[in-house]
Amino acid sequence: MTIAMERESAAAPTAGGTQDVFYSRSSRMPRPMIARAEGIRMWDEDGREYIDASCGPMVSSIGHGNARVIDAMARQARTLDYAYTRVARNRANLALADRLAALAGPGFERVHLASGGSEAIDNAIKLVRQHALATGRPQKQRLIALSPSYHGGTIASLALGAEGGLVPFLDGLAVVADKVPAPVGYRVPAGHGAESYAMDCAAALERKILALGPETVLAFFIEPVGGLSTGAVVPPPSYMREVRRICTRYDVLMVADEVLCGIGRTGELFAARHWPDAMPDIIVLAKALGGGHAPLGAVLAPAAMVDHMAERTGFDFSYSYNAHPIACAAGLAVLAEIEERALVANARARGAEIEHGLRALAGRFPVIGDVRGIGMLWAVELVRDRSSKAMFPDAVQVNERAVRHGLDAGLMLYARPSAGSRLGHWVMLAPPLTVTRAETAEILQRLERALATLGAELAAL
Ligand SMILES: Cc1ncc(COP(=O)(O)O)c(C=O)c1O
Repeated sequence: MTIAMERESAAAPTAGGTQDVFYSRSSRMPRPMIARAEGIRMWDEDGREYIDASCGPMVSSIGHGNARVIDAMARQARTLDYAYTRVARNRANLALADRLAALAGPGFERVHLASGGSEAIDNAIKLVRQHALATGRPQKQRLIALSPSYHGGTIASLALGAEGGLVPFLDGLAVVADKVPAPVGYRVPAGHGAESYAMDCAAALERKILALGPETVLAFFIEPVGGLSTGAVVPPPSYMREVRRICTRYDVLMVADEVLCGIGRTGELFAARHWPDAMPDIIVLAKALGGGHAPLGAVLAPAAMVDHMAERTGFDFSYSYNAHPIACAAGLAVLAEIEERALVANARARGAEIEHGLRALAGRFPVIGDVRGIGMLWAVELVRDRSSKAMFPDAVQVNERAVRHGLDAGLMLYARPSAGSRLGHWVMLAPPLTVTRAETAEILQRLERALATLGAELAAL
């Protein structure tokens, strides 16, 4: 435990406390008190340096403290700090919407802005519902999502991904979405390979739609590349083509939740572009769009859908902070950075180095059962036994151990179980898209140190 962490955990309680006073005591772990951050690095109050190897939950796409983005935000704040969309228009809103629509191309002309991923997903849910009402199909009410999936923390976005203990929690508050299995590639049922299982998962979507009645199904929400729920699962192209075909056939909107995997993270500006013949109807963005400098999210939808809706029913939902001028200015500057510094290409090139390094580490550390990902989004699955893929029991808290050894090695890691550990434990490696070759090597060296101490500790249990 670092000195800053010790001091924090020993500190006398303050009146308010940091956010984690709300977390269950059992999951409240010592964490460094971060004082500042720049580029890919963070420093705690004792001056100890860490590399931010996961951008928090894959947020800080262009690293910390980007001067261009900060200047753009400060300029915007000095010029026009705030204007409410119901009573005024603002140029920053217009410019960001135009830029996103131009980048996304035909089929994604209309841009509805929000203050983060959960809000944007919430808006996408409202949008598909309003579309059904505007097109005279009120019976379309059901949403389908993957199991496991994560789509956010508002009541509606939580209900989209909810399973297990969240279902009784939401009872009476929200309708939990119907689920079909996610096309995970590592822990597939006996007799299956990744591809054949993925096709089974696609067939499950068709069965689910037919069981519910296609006339009742509004939309299928999918993370094109898995994030915090599955740990960087990349589906085979055949799966994406098949779910696209099924959605089209049964008149179900396909909504790509690119909150985590969009805006360059996967080596394409939009993750959906990895499968150009399976493009979604709606794309939801957040995280990397504000790049951690500002809370920002967006729903991209076809002009035809939005304009028709505006004629009939309208989509009359707003709140105080959507299209906030300072957040929009930040988003525009983030997009300019990504474009001018060719960060999507950098994500591909440096991501290939990370993949290579992780596969080499897997050769040395048997605790690594699987390496998966794409672009600058990588996960290593931690196993007790590689040949049987046996998982660590929950009591071992392997994720927490990995995070702690990462911190000791100067690496900030994001680690989680999938589906409440039903589908294993993984650690994510997703540094800012700005990472250089030398920084990539440094990340891998620190990870090697962390894995060495983790491996020794686990072997001694
Ligand atoms: C795929 C996905 N969708 C939605 C969200 C919610 O976004 P936010 O945390 O910005 O509200 C997340 C957050 O992790 C996410 O990973």
